[in-house]
Amino acid sequence: MNILSKCYAFDYADKLKQEGIYPYFKAINESEGPEVDIDGHRIIMAGSNNYLGLTTHPRVVEAAIKATEKYGSSCSGSRFLTGTTVLHEEMEEKVARFMGKEAALVFTTGYLTAQGVIAPLVGRGEYLFSDKENHASIVVGNAMTTVHNSTVIRYRHNDMANLEARLSKVDYHTPKLIVTDGVFSTFGTIARLDEITRLAKAYNANVVVDDAHALGVIGPGGKGTAHYFGVENEVDMTICTFSKSLSSIGGFVVGEERVINYLKHKSSALMFSASPTASAVASALAALEILTENPELPQQVLGNAANVRLALKTMGFNVVDAEAAIVAVLIGDNEKTFRFWQALYDEGVFVNAFVSPAVPAGYQMLRLSFMATHENYHLDYILHTFKEIGTRLGVIAPDTEAVPATARELVPA
Ligand SMILES: Cc1ncc(COP(=O)(O)O)c(C=O)c1O
Repeated sequence: MNILSKCYAFDYADKLKQEGIYPYFKAINESEGPEVDIDGHRIIMAGSNNYLGLTTHPRVVEAAIKATEKYGSSCSGSRFLTGTTVLHEEMEEKVARFMGKEAALVFTTGYLTAQGVIAPLVGRGEYLFSDKENHASIVVGNAMTTVHNSTVIRYRHNDMANLEARLSKVDYHTPKLIVTDGVFSTFGTIARLDEITRLAKAYNANVVVDDAHALGVIGPGGKGTAHYFGVENEVDMTICTFSKSLSSIGGFVVGEERVINYLKHKSSALMFSASPTASAVASALAALEILTENPELPQQVLGNAANVRLALKTMGFNVVDAEAAIVAVLIGDNEKTFRFWQALYDEGVFVNAFVSPAVPAGYQMLRLSFMATHENYHLDYILHTFKEIGTRLGVIAPDTEAVPATARELVPA
């Protein structure tokens, strides 16, 4: 037995592959956004975070090409040293203005942003309050603060009474940070930021929100969760990613200039990891400009998700009530989730399978996510396919309400 023994014994994925129901690491040959080619089959993509559908927008693609031509393929260093181009600075200025904050700092990914913001902020004897459903990047960021002897307290998901009970047990004057996803990445539910900011004020806490799934989707003009509740002045920092609505790769934090200045010089994740490429920043910048010029785009993605959520619910699926671009359909069992996923894939629909232990037992789900660029025929086809497979696998009863009869044949085989 040695440290690698667990790797040799791990056979869960092999078994799923043998059964032909393994849903991960599918290599995409070609992508047009709402439709992709995998293994020579055209498939409707309903599992991507490309919420505004901008990954293939000519302006976004052109910006990436031009930046590569000008700056080369890599910055070959961290933001701190050789990894800051004028594009990184332009992005920081524009995204801070968009989010209504003084300053911004661009990181390599959203995952690193969470660590890079939380870890340097919460120190010895200080407290971190974190929603139990927060994204893995926040969980890792939280864990990193414990090396400084901080205390991490997890509160029940979106449960404000539970948060208050926990806050009230800590001395008022002790520094505290509350961290929450804005739109929760698994279920698509929205954090109760109006209440969280009220509690933060009452108990002397600061607030950081992860708006990975909110930027470009909720709030006026897609400005995210704080703007959705009108509490942008009460939220101290928003962290976010370029990898969803901004159709690129990278991350950022916005906040007060003095806070950003501190993070610039104290954040290990920023100082010891190479910066995002100029092409990644250029495409995110182009996407941000398109969003700013087209504030109606979020309504398109929200409308698509809302239509599908309602239709699936009407058919009898157990769908989580939410308001974002994510539609979570609870299946409640690992194997059934994998079988449903495979049947959808075989019929030309790509969604994401979330199973236990990534989600609690009973909450295994098919998670759909929508784009502003999905057309009605994509949505109709997804609904028809869900209805047919859901009935076949006994997830819904056969006699539920019919969905609009369009489209199977409209989608190229
Ligand atoms: C809530 C949340 N935060 C952070 C991240 C990480 O972002 P990135 O893909 O830029 O690392 C994700 C990505 O899935 C996310 O869902």
